[in-house]
Amino acid sequence: MDNRIHEEFIPNEVIEEVRLRTDIVEVISDYVGLQRKGKNYWGLCPFHSENTPSFTVTPEKQMFYCFGCNVGGNVFSFVMKRENWSFVESVKNLAHRYGVSLPEKELSPREREENRLRRRFEEIHEWAASYFHDLLLRLPEGEPGRLYFAKRGVDLATMKSFRLGYAPERWDGLLGYMQERGVQPHELAEAGLAIEKETQGKDGRYYDRFRHRVLFSILDRRNHPIAFGARALDDSIPKYLNSPETSFFNKGHHLYGMHRAHQGIRDEGFAIMVEGYMDVIALQNAGFPNTVASLGTALTQDQAKLLRRYTQRVVLLYDSDGAGIQAALRGGEILRDMGIRVDVLTLTGAKDPDEFLKSFGVDDFNKALKGVSTYVEFKYRTLIRATPPENIHEKAELVIKLAPDILKVTSPVEREGYERFLSLELGLTLEAVQREIASQEQKKPKKERVQEYSPQKQVNSVKNRDNIIGTIICKDNPVQPLPTVYLGVYRAERTLLRMLLEDISHLPKIKAKLGGSFWKVLTHQQIFNYLDQDGELPAHSDETVQSRLASLLLEELDISQTERLLDDCIKEILSTQAEERMEDLQARMATLEKSGDMAGAMALLKEIGERLKRGE
Ligand code: UTP
Ligand code: MN
Repeated sequence: MDNRIHEEFIPNEVIEEVRLRTDIVEVISDYVGLQRKGKNYWGLCPFHSENTPSFTVTPEKQMFYCFGCNVGGNVFSFVMKRENWSFVESVKNLAHRYGVSLPEKELSPREREENRLRRRFEEIHEWAASYFHDLLLRLPEGEPGRLYFAKRGVDLATMKSFRLGYAPERWDGLLGYMQERGVQPHELAEAGLAIEKETQGKDGRYYDRFRHRVLFSILDRRNHPIAFGARALDDSIPKYLNSPETSFFNKGHHLYGMHRAHQGIRDEGFAIMVEGYMDVIALQNAGFPNTVASLGTALTQDQAKLLRRYTQRVVLLYDSDGAGIQAALRGGEILRDMGIRVDVLTLTGAKDPDEFLKSFGVDDFNKALKGVSTYVEFKYRTLIRATPPENIHEKAELVIKLAPDILKVTSPVEREGYERFLSLELGLTLEAVQREIASQEQKKPKKERVQEYSPQKQVNSVKNRDNIIGTIICKDNPVQPLPTVYLGVYRAERTLLRMLLEDISHLPKIKAKLGGSFWKVLTHQQIFNYLDQDGELPAHSDETVQSRLASLLLEELDISQTERLLDDCIKEILSTQAEERMEDLQARMATLEKSGDMAGAMALLKEIGERLKRGE
């Protein structure tokens, strides 16, 4: 369940107290073998897989940072990430460990009511899962479920670890069981487990939502059931019936199998994304604990974000039918746009991974896994299968169709690899393919742009074509337009902040030249505000700020050059501001011209001319 919305308030003094008493090296040592080198400690990063240590902890600053995956922050960010705790959970746990007592807190009546409802929802699901599970495991009425799973090769241990169940062929099985535990029918309906019958004028009558079906418990990462997927035992329609969405269950936020996969994904270094519940079970059992599935929907952005907390790479393994191919194309795009590397595995000879394992076994699956295609190759194959290009014109069109995908590739080596691949496949020269792709590049601004989405927690580094690292912060609300930041400005801002962190006495000069709110990157503005207000860094704030701070603090700074560096950064920012003003003037002039307002356009033209004369 989503913890963010239920966060309680902990006073700042208490958070500060916990932070002061906590030793970051000690806490992180529970998870990572750390070795001291000079002032800092080094170890293998727990957030991505690596063989040489690039993860460092700085006791002096009480921060950690990984040079490999750019994750960093303070002790709270560390446990939040590592344990998947919310901020409040992290403070509470560390407070307990270091003997800081937390004040009892006042809840508003609404919060109290919501907490009560959520606990009730969890309790009801816990009971329901036990009811369905016991039926499947030992009650006479559960025989059809046992027969079904036996037929599909699911053993007892699996039934237990996935909390599989069976809902009997009755209208009031669960209702009766729940009533014995004091759960009213309307509560069961609100939890999505019963349905109210429409009866005019009369009090509602209720019946069980799931009947005569095998059940897949959907467990959250703490292993609590929060919903069910229910499969018919035969070819009845619908094949699957799922829990409806409620205020406590949003299917787009969860992945099936995550209760085991969160560890599996970290250990393996990548996730396998499949379509079906049965595929997850079969693959996890066959030694791929890093397998998950979305819950009967197309992959959502929230699910992609969830995956990104654990890994940078996802292998899509969808059914080999048309729907599966479409899902892989779309899902791959969502993942890739989040900065995740996407490969696609296509199995032949079986409709889905579960069937493949049954027919061919684990060894063949492993072989297939070694032969995954990149997303671009997969898309290419899909396109040529649909319409094989028959002439030069169609070949050019195909290259144009793939250009947006290739243009998004950040590594120049990889990009050329795709261009070569296309040239070989289509019998075109490499140069022609490259020119075609380059011509598809949007009329790019004179400077490289880095996109800045605002206040989300995830930080994700991207490299542009020149291999310069920028940072993308993804936003919860994708509807708003995303402000764009020139790469030069982005780097200038970083350097300015780095200098300020080293020596706050630069602040007056920066403010004199640029003011106090020129920062284009939201996180930079936030850090600057902290520094401007009291010269203090925040003890807690969102993960983005923490990561950015940690990475800044660890960046080397050439102190002999500060004055020049400072001037260069200010110049870069000022010149970009001037350029943007100019672009704005030009755009406004064009609009006026189009609308026939020549006088207005001339006035603007004059202003532009003056600016140019001043050398802006
Ligand atoms: P599949 O039809 O491939 O099901 O749908 P499956 O899991 O492989 O089941 P078996 O192996 O035939 O028993 C893939 C997923 O799509 C969702 C379910 O999450 C299912 O696991 N789905 C499918 C539904 O939600 N409703 C449906 O009616 C069908
Ligand atoms: Mn399937």
